Amino acid sequence: MFYLDNAATTWPKPEIVYTTQNQSFREMFSPKRGTSKASRAGSEKLMHARQVLAGLFNIADPLQIGFTSGCTHSLNFAIQAFPWQPGDGVVMSAIEHHALSRPIRKMARERGIQFFVVPYTDENPFDMANFENLLQTELSIRLIATTHASNVIGSVLPIQEIGSLAHRYGKFYLVDVAQSAGVLPIDVQTFHIDMMAVPGHKSLYGPPGVGAVYVSDKVPLNTFLEGGTGNDSGKHPMQSKLPESVEVGTIALPGILAFAAGAQWVQETGLDKIHLHEKHLLKMLLEGLHAFPEIMVYGHQRLEEKTPVVSFNIPGVEPKELGNQLFDTYGIAIRAGFHCAPMAHEAIQTIHSGGTVRASIGYFTQPEDIEALLQALKKEIPRYNVSCSL
Ligand SMILES: Cc1ncc(COP(=O)(O)O)c(C=O)c1O
Repeated sequence: MFYLDNAATTWPKPEIVYTTQNQSFREMFSPKRGTSKASRAGSEKLMHARQVLAGLFNIADPLQIGFTSGCTHSLNFAIQAFPWQPGDGVVMSAIEHHALSRPIRKMARERGIQFFVVPYTDENPFDMANFENLLQTELSIRLIATTHASNVIGSVLPIQEIGSLAHRYGKFYLVDVAQSAGVLPIDVQTFHIDMMAVPGHKSLYGPPGVGAVYVSDKVPLNTFLEGGTGNDSGKHPMQSKLPESVEVGTIALPGILAFAAGAQWVQETGLDKIHLHEKHLLKMLLEGLHAFPEIMVYGHQRLEEKTPVVSFNIPGVEPKELGNQLFDTYGIAIRAGFHCAPMAHEAIQTIHSGGTVRASIGYFTQPEDIEALLQALKKEIPRYNVSCSL
């Protein structure tokens, strides 16, 4: 298999991730409950996992990080536990994933909040002037919630400027780093981030089913899920303080520790080295695609402001059909369709044509994977042109 679906989940994982998951599953119990040695070992390792993430994102206090079942869970927590009042406003970008936009739309339907969308153009995926205008005119706005990078076209949003402006106007800033954690440097303090949703299974190379959320102690978040936390067991009310407020029930310790092992591996490998490798392959992919006049590539093409995620189409060809063909005939794993982000497909105008074919690169991608895709397209394009002209 030629694996080019790293934006969905990275594959393979570093060996340490597999061994950590296996070993901790065998040797440790979920922390905060039992008195056994295995349970105490679990508690220590859990703290270490928080410290790894705190180090990676420059989070002052590791206890401001809670572990979740994934970025979707983290975003739902941050958005649904936000202390909304009817009429409050929230701003998002025009290229959000369902994981962020659906909870916001739910809050609009059920809690009477208003949402505002900052316009997109290929060259300017988040119009800062329009954003500032919203902040000046819509006084009800309390939260800004954006992705760091698009999972459809890889365009990176200027989150440091967004955060800085949000804080200048006294608003909280929530960032979805699903596509950027482990790809780009992120510093919650310099970037003015108040809440951040992190996936485990993407570019931090952890397993599926785990993620993390960071919440600054300035945000008066409520609880989202209620249940046992291992603390205050004799009381009825649950604490609304991280990490207990999000780590409810028996947590997925083996997955969390494997996630931390992945994040530590990223740190040890070095973001610069990862970035260089991925950028080199991204350049190769974009140049290869541009060499086919029949292929349309979406979004801006500035390498420095793009994650290694590329959406393209052969106009007139159903993306899913091409995607299936690429795997069935050539063993190339990509993702075709709407990528859970119809807003992004509205923005790039592919919503009525079945979305796009998306190829995405990770640290374990090799030039042969890109070459395989380009060779396959070379063979496929004439076939489709023939059927189109019939
Ligand atoms: C931008 C973005 N946000 C959120 C998510 C959801 O992440 P998770 O699978 O960890 O819930 C994804 C996953 O594809 C994503 O690309």
